[in-house]
Amino acid sequence: MEKTLIILKPDAVQRRLLGKILSRFEEKGFQLLGLKMIQIPESLARRHYAMHEGKDFFEPLIRYTISAPVLVMVLKGKNAVEIVRKMMGATFGSKAEPGTIRGDYALSNRFNLIHGSDSPTNAEKEIGIFFRKEELFEYNPADIQWLYDMSTGDIV
Ligand code: RTP
Ligand code: MG
Repeated sequence: MEKTLIILKPDAVQRRLLGKILSRFEEKGFQLLGLKMIQIPESLARRHYAMHEGKDFFEPLIRYTISAPVLVMVLKGKNAVEIVRKMMGATFGSKAEPGTIRGDYALSNRFNLIHGSDSPTNAEKEIGIFFRKEELFEYNPADIQWLYDMSTGDIV
């Protein structure tokens, strides 16, 4: 089982798309471990997107990220990182496939609604940055035996 950090970016909040996007992850079967609304401080935005420092879109990206409140959440599931990235779609709204979140709701190549961790290692790091331990909940999903075949001892 894997965890991943998702940010529903300022445009998702402003465009009232939170419920629709969250529904997709719930319906897929992911378990929600934590959820909160915050306005990302500039220092945190710069740290979160540090790998893009120096690129021409870095400063506009930081301005966008801190421009309004966001929803941050932690989801859990088998291969959660990769599956969430697929559900998000390609980075640019203009290129993302229909059926994906960005493909269905975003036109812009910057205002693309959602961030998802891009590796399990980065997911662990990002979760630690955005959430305190007591803000994350460990509980048994009631329908887990219908989300996966666990009869062989593996999670299939
Ligand atoms: P994210 O980190 O937000 O999950 O998005 P991503 O992995 O799909 O894309 P990434 O390459 O990490 O870019 C981070 C965010 O920067 C903005 N962006 N603007 N050429 C541009 O103007 C440009 N390229 C990227 C997007 O908001 C992108 O999500
Ligand atoms: Mg990225």
